[in-house]
Amino acid sequence: MHSREYGPYGPKPEEKLHYEPQYKIVKCRINGIRVTKMVDVRASLTDFLRNEFALTSVKKGCEVGECGACAVLIDGESFNSCIYLAIWAEGKDIWTTEGLTASDGSLSIIQQAFVDEAAVQCGFCTPGFIVSATEIISRGKYYTIDELRKELANHMCRCTGYENILIAVQKANNIENGFEEIEEHVVNQIKEEDKKDYM
Ligand code: FES
Ligand code: FES
Repeated sequence: MHSREYGPYGPKPEEKLHYEPQYKIVKCRINGIRVTKMVDVRASLTDFLRNEFALTSVKKGCEVGECGACAVLIDGESFNSCIYLAIWAEGKDIWTTEGLTASDGSLSIIQQAFVDEAAVQCGFCTPGFIVSATEIISRGKYYTIDELRKELANHMCRCTGYENILIAVQKANNIENGFEEIEEHVVNQIKEEDKKDYM
């Protein structure tokens, strides 16, 4: 008699023993708070943060690791969370832009620098830039604008506000790390020695 269980197309008995569970418990810290959640083993960290914790600063842009809109800090390093499985967050310390504000709601230096330097247009790319800038600033090293351009090359701004973003990141880095030497970055300004050419 034909049986689905043991017929030619049915699973072999030993295969039945190797089913992986579809959901796993993940314990980690998110923005300084310990959390324990059951997660789908296929879920990205982006979906985990947005759907389970309403951390919507974590944007879904390309979802293939190309644009940086979904960047979050994992143990102090900036990662694109769209290509990072939620189950890999086990035991990790994760920070999003929401967690960078003070408890009274005041902005961090890097967040304020983006406001002051008009480095925000539609704002879609902004949280990702701020997360990566936070990692850069934590290194305690001076960066020129050109060096920052390379450091942030994995972030895209569809509004093309790159110059102001770079200025904001350099300003915050200088303030946080106490660098007095501030590179004069000329944006739509005419240098003194060139002014005669325009008169
Ligand atoms: S959405 Fe993750 S890198 Fe673009
Ligand atoms: S401000 Fe619009 S994508 Fe950067």
